[in-house]
Amino acid sequence: MSRFDEVIERRGTNAVKWDGLKTVFGREDVLPMWVADMDFKAPEVVIDAIKQSAEHGIYGYTVVPDSTREAIVDWMKDRHSWKIHKEWLLFNHGVVPSIGAAVEALTEPGDAVIVQPPVYNPFFDMIEKNGRKLVYNELVLQDGHYKMDLADLEEKIKAERAKMVVLCSPHNPGGRVWTKEELTALGSVCEKHNVFLVADEIHADLTREPHKHISIASLSERYAAFTVTLIAPSKTFNLAGLQASSLIVPDKTIRTKIQKVFAKQGQFTLNQMGIAGMEAAYRSGHEWLDEALEYIHGNVQLVKEYADKNIPSLSVMEPEGSYLVWVDCRALGLSDKELLDLFLDHGVALGNGAKYGPGGEGFMRINVACPRSTVAETMERMKKAADSLS
Ligand SMILES: Cc1ncc(COP(=O)(O)O)c(C=O)c1O
Repeated sequence: MSRFDEVIERRGTNAVKWDGLKTVFGREDVLPMWVADMDFKAPEVVIDAIKQSAEHGIYGYTVVPDSTREAIVDWMKDRHSWKIHKEWLLFNHGVVPSIGAAVEALTEPGDAVIVQPPVYNPFFDMIEKNGRKLVYNELVLQDGHYKMDLADLEEKIKAERAKMVVLCSPHNPGGRVWTKEELTALGSVCEKHNVFLVADEIHADLTREPHKHISIASLSERYAAFTVTLIAPSKTFNLAGLQASSLIVPDKTIRTKIQKVFAKQGQFTLNQMGIAGMEAAYRSGHEWLDEALEYIHGNVQLVKEYADKNIPSLSVMEPEGSYLVWVDCRALGLSDKELLDLFLDHGVALGNGAKYGPGGEGFMRINVACPRSTVAETMERMKKAADSLS
């Protein structure tokens, strides 16, 4: 029995994944396999750090201490072989708002910003709600895996005079862990055309052997000079509710521009529990993470093997990273709304692929960061859903 097998009641704890079901799906009697957080308890070291901080009883204004910066520097070196400097770090309450801040700091209203759909949909909002033009460089589905179309990217950069590319690395929802060759090629296109790169690497710590995440900015100082890398302990250690994340910005001019946007928003520090949890996780969370990765790997295998054997109309894309499984449901021949409703009617709330932009239609996303029994039940319900059509 693994510690991750424990089914923990989350209803009534302000968990959007559970307590938001009624609002988003109109019903609560379903398994929530949508929002990307884990139904696992955070590492003990994090819980202890938060308890200690809570017991102090004074929750005044904070400063992010050097020890937190050092924990992040060490984490990046140990897990990702990237030697960053603590001065490169900025902090924000979320990765999504940091994308917005980078867009605002480094581009002008009306400028084109490119994304690679199907991709995490808040990217679209951060571009459009900041008054920039959203441009798609669609990923290509080849042999069951996504590939980048860099010829199309180059054309779009030229045609739209794009100023920025937002990269999702590893990729949500497709689970690709981009290779050194792919990242090098992307970096060289950005360099050639003088565009900024925002690398959302929130899923960086969640890769599956033999795949290894590479921070694109770590590939060369030239790439680091135009890249803003976004990381967080939120996916890695299930700390999204603590709202603590970091920006790695090697270039001083870019850093200053982003700091100006933060200053405009009155955004200067993190909350006390976020600082305590983040530092403890990065400092002492290695063992917990290794165990979690093994468990998630088992859940991914279960989904893949069960679907391959029992639900021939679904095609599971095995993720190389993240705990999200992207499922091709196009063979069922339903519209996106019909698909979502079919699974809901059989007791499962999934991530609707269409919302991830072009290329996402007909796909559903399953979050498998939950006890194995929940994953097994989900698969049985999905089988009943598919069988109900024949
Ligand atoms: C690629 C990606 N970026 C960002 C986020 C959310 O980041 P945050 O909660 O820090 O804004 C998610 C959450 O699912 C994600 O998948």
